[in-house]
Amino acid sequence: MARITLVGVAKAFNDKQILDRLDLDIKNGELIALLGPSGSGKTTLLKLIAGLDTPSAGRIEFDGSDVTEVSTRHRQAIIVFQDHCLFPHLTVKENIAFGLRARNEPRATIDRKVDEILEVVQLPGRQNSLPHALSGGEKQRIALARACVLKPRVLLLDEPFSNLDVNLRFSMREFVVSLQRVLKLTCVLVTHDKEEAFVMAERVAVLLDGRLEQVDTPENLYDRPKNKKVAEFLGEANFFPGVMADGVFSCALGSFATPWQDTRQAVGMVRYDNVQLRRHGGITLGKIKDKVFAGRYIFYKVALAAGGELMASCKESFTLGDAVYVSCADHAMQVYGDS
Ligand SMILES: Nc1ncnc2c1ncn2[C@@H]1O[C@H](COP(=O)(O)OP(=O)(O)OP(=O)(O)O)[C@@H](O)[C@H]1O
Ligand SMILES: [Mg+2]
Repeated sequence: MARITLVGVAKAFNDKQILDRLDLDIKNGELIALLGPSGSGKTTLLKLIAGLDTPSAGRIEFDGSDVTEVSTRHRQAIIVFQDHCLFPHLTVKENIAFGLRARNEPRATIDRKVDEILEVVQLPGRQNSLPHALSGGEKQRIALARACVLKPRVLLLDEPFSNLDVNLRFSMREFVVSLQRVLKLTCVLVTHDKEEAFVMAERVAVLLDGRLEQVDTPENLYDRPKNKKVAEFLGEANFFPGVMADGVFSCALGSFATPWQDTRQAVGMVRYDNVQLRRHGGITLGKIKDKVFAGRYIFYKVALAAGGELMASCKESFTLGDAVYVSCADHAMQVYGDS
């Protein structure tokens, strides 16, 4: 495992800036998720960390040593892509042993390491299976075994579960987290799935338009997106234009205490699940305009009596046309003064 440091890393293709001077410190043995929409530069950044491409500017360090110009093999980074890339004509054992053979390791050592890693990925006894005889999840575990058997300093996963069905994705997420902990790997997981990033990673780095907008714990990202851009990307957020003055933010939803004392235009953000709907006892009145049942929650669109509308998600049942009082706690209202 290794600590990874990016210093002013930039990448341009044909004069088009894809990554814009990124700084990031990934701790030894950390699992960090790189989260961003399609085309935001996630794979590009992963390839730079892997050494499959070189940055246009900046440098990459592993444990404090500059590896920017060092080959993938010598920096001991391994990247696993979503399509497994197992050799179809080789058995499980031959697939896993491939990299060890290339290193000229003795046959007995290879046999032992293959058996050990098959135990770790919970597929003992599958040495002689061919890839076509494996399920999607099993193939994915063999691809991980093939990467991990080489004891990489850094394991890079590019949307590794996007080809798997929902249930398998859940079990593979748990599996990779436990594998990463057992093997104490420094791991960068690329995903555009927020939930995947939140459940798996210790920290999540949000990449938007080639910039790291926020690098934070899942809890902080969810509760306190740093700016409107991040909040919009994370979704399920209502925005209210308003005014900030003397430590109070006033908008269509009411007045909220904020830490700021200056006076200016601002935008407040409340997540759908932080909006409270009540039949009685409130100040801001609204009417249920639309309702969507989504299993764990019901999503409501509420038209405010004073104009405008908002979205709320909760478990309580309301009917279209119901009058409701809408509120939100002070701490649930994030105010962005720069938007
Ligand atoms: N070799 C290349 N030459 C030119 N442009 C490239 C190259 N590789 C990537 N790009 C461009 O860089 C941008 C970022 O691509 P990248 O593959 O890193 O996105 P991504 O975040 O991984 O997206 P996705 O979630 O769809 O996989 C895209 O606009 C892409 O077209
Ligand atoms: Mg990609």
